[in-house]
Amino acid sequence: MPDLDTLFGGHFMSEVANPYVTYAALRQREPVILVNLPLAPGYLVTRYADAVSVLKDAALFSSRANAKGIGLVMGKTILEMDGKEHTRHRNIVSTAFVPKALQGELPAVIEATAHEMIDAFVRDGHADLVTQFTRTFPLRVIAHIIGVPIEDYETFKRWSLDLIGFADDPAKGFEAAAKLVEYLRPIVDSHRVEPRGDLLSTLTHADVDGHRLTDEEVYSFLRLLLPAGSDTTYRLIGSTLFALLTHTEQLEEVRANRAAVAPAIEEALRWEAPVQFAARETTAPTTIGDVELPEGAPVLTAIGSANRDERHYQDPDRFDIHRRADDHVAFGFGRHFCLGSHLARLEATTALNALLDRLPHLRLDPSADCAVVGLAFRSPNRLPVRFG
Ligand code: HEM
Repeated sequence: MPDLDTLFGGHFMSEVANPYVTYAALRQREPVILVNLPLAPGYLVTRYADAVSVLKDAALFSSRANAKGIGLVMGKTILEMDGKEHTRHRNIVSTAFVPKALQGELPAVIEATAHEMIDAFVRDGHADLVTQFTRTFPLRVIAHIIGVPIEDYETFKRWSLDLIGFADDPAKGFEAAAKLVEYLRPIVDSHRVEPRGDLLSTLTHADVDGHRLTDEEVYSFLRLLLPAGSDTTYRLIGSTLFALLTHTEQLEEVRANRAAVAPAIEEALRWEAPVQFAARETTAPTTIGDVELPEGAPVLTAIGSANRDERHYQDPDRFDIHRRADDHVAFGFGRHFCLGSHLARLEATTALNALLDRLPHLRLDPSADCAVVGLAFRSPNRLPVRFG
């Protein structure tokens, strides 16, 4: 049985440069393959149709797999819940992320945040858009929505990255989880006493079957929402910028016609899915294609591979904003479909428009050495640009 690391030439959380050659070979030869995953052996599913059928069937492919993975550091969250329990808990926060909730003052806050961050480097003529923009921008937005007055974004960013990177360094992951709670405790306490109009007030006062969420349940929600709302979206904005900066004719098209911003973001979601895998576990013996899986088998749907499946997309490795590939699975599929997809799109659109408005002749630094990297999560390692 091959190791995931050996298959892809790098560790789960490391800077794997290009998993797509391996994905293509697996889709062709062994689309459902038993591999050594970071925590246990499991089945890697690489074709689009198979990935969708796994994600669609929540009864047969349970999300409890996440309890043995990311749930170890996040605590029990909706990511690992099934059935009615999942619906009840998802409903507590879902209204905060529907398109209607993203109207009102929020778009202006997001736009002001983007411009404030650009102000800090706009006169320099150059910047690294990863360290100076993409990494922190979504964290500031999600902190605002939740109602966490994060003063020290750098520390928070570190905890957030250590949390989702726990498979790589469990000690750091657990330490980050504990530090996050220490930081959040007084904030959660004050929201319990005095609710404000933010998401933390909703969480601390929600009624689930006649009782309030416990502190631990609230912390788990926050340990999910903070990284889910920031580490993913920063990757999307970075990869969209990378795609456009390396396809300059499409960059110019988007600059001239801002209606093309949304399709460019959608194509970037397909082309470089920020989250590459979704974990499930079989609840009964079953088959995927002609491979038999026992009950309790871990299954890893390779979202990034599904999005590049030649059976579903023509010339899938080509970045093309005219493709209209809005059936990509970058946000998952089925009942666990990403809760923050509308917010992520709003943030990415606002960021792209602000950067294009403020940075004329935006281009990659000719001496730039940057690439989209990663296996579990992917985004550019740096984006050194020049402008003006
Ligand atoms: C480009 C940005 C994003 C990407 C690529 C992304 C990706 C995903 C994926 C693939 C899933 C499904 C996981 C599964 O099926 O096991 C998911 C679920 C989730 N996402 Fe996102 N996400 C993004 C942004 C956000 C944002 C901004 C939030 C903010 C709240 C968020 C919150 C969540 C939550 C709470 C879930 C769990 C939903 C459930 O289990 O019912 N995500 N996301």
